[in-house]
Amino acid sequence: EGLATYDPGFVNTASCRSAVTFIDGDAGILEYRGYPIEQLAEHSTFLEVAYLLLNGDLPTEAELEEWVHQITIHTFLHENVKQLMQGYRYDAHPMGMLMSSVSALSTFYPDAVKIADVDNRQLQITRLIAKMPTLGAFAFRHAQGKPYVYPDNRLSYVENFLAMLFKMSEPTYAADPRLVKALDILLILHADHEQNCSTNAVRSVGSSQVDPYSAVAAGIGALYGPLHGGANEAVLKMLRRIGSVDQIPAFIEGVKAGKEKLMGFGHRVYKNFDPRATIIKKACDDVFAVTGVNPLLEIAQELERIALEDEYFVKRKLYPNVDFYSGLIYEALQFPPEMFTVLFAIGRTPGWLAQWSELVQDKEQKIARPKQIYTGHRTREFVPMAER
Ligand code: CMC
Repeated sequence: EGLATYDPGFVNTASCRSAVTFIDGDAGILEYRGYPIEQLAEHSTFLEVAYLLLNGDLPTEAELEEWVHQITIHTFLHENVKQLMQGYRYDAHPMGMLMSSVSALSTFYPDAVKIADVDNRQLQITRLIAKMPTLGAFAFRHAQGKPYVYPDNRLSYVENFLAMLFKMSEPTYAADPRLVKALDILLILHADHEQNCSTNAVRSVGSSQVDPYSAVAAGIGALYGPLHGGANEAVLKMLRRIGSVDQIPAFIEGVKAGKEKLMGFGHRVYKNFDPRATIIKKACDDVFAVTGVNPLLEIAQELERIALEDEYFVKRKLYPNVDFYSGLIYEALQFPPEMFTVLFAIGRTPGWLAQWSELVQDKEQKIARPKQIYTGHRTREFVPMAER
């Protein structure tokens, strides 16, 4: 009688056609618009990659200059957004603040609902990518009880973000260029990942033709969860809880007994290795050369060594994913764990918006509305209260 295919979690259901990102999970290949992630991480910058994701091709020098200029002049927030953020409780999680302040932006830019207008879409996309670091930094300063630091548009995207986070006084916060480069690479690695949970959320909500701020806020909500972007924060907490190398075997036994997951391991798509994890491991060395080694690195490396030899993980094809080492770098850059997923969200914003723009231009796309397999009662007579 026409039962729908049961596929909870969309393991084998394509929800859209997309020309943005290609993944071959068995071969460990990740490409944005056909360019291998390894080449982009080495030769490109985050804003150049954002342009590529959004427009389909790498920019010329003039196109990149104009794009960077447009991003730079949109970094400021309306003062009332600042007031809004001041209203959060002192211990509010930065991801909660980011999610709700992004959705609030829809009220500051009501024209954003005109999604059929290409120039208007471009303006909102530029605004969102420009303002995400400002929102992330304000959320961070709020949690620390420190005054917000306004953008300094003489600085690059990543330097500006670091200055808004960590600047204490004049003169301008000066970041080590090697750390700026490492953070830029991390943002590139997170910029898109085809139909992951948060992108699917953006597309699903976007398919109702709501404005992009509301759609991206939904994506931030999805990313907040510990099985998605929240994993990098969970990895750090896990490493700290394990505490020392000699506690690892007992921890692994607990994972195998199903007590908890080894966070930062496993992936829905990568069943061989996660190419992003390989690049991050290399970036770790560059960062630790500047900051000194994070003592948790030794635990992470030993955990990886033991897990990769253990039958439980081998049989299930569980390998370190992007989140296994990224948290160690973020911590070395002085980010507290609650900020890790905010960094992921800033990186993923161009991908969300590239996929959102693809969605709104796709004539075949309908409102997202999956089927269900109904397992409840069929028609029953209402039972009056006295007879229940
Ligand atoms: N530790 C221990 N066992 C695991 C893990 C893990 N990290 N991941 C999967 N398994 C087991 C799982 O219990 C299952 O075992 P069994 O067949 O005995 O029931 C088997 O491996 C297959 O796992 P699954 O849950 O069917 O795999 P999935 O594709 O639904 O889940 C995942 C993918 C990433 C949610 C999962 O591997 C996981 O929860 N990992 C830990 C969280 C994490 O690191 N997430 C970050 C993902 S990468 C960045 C991002 O996209 O956000």
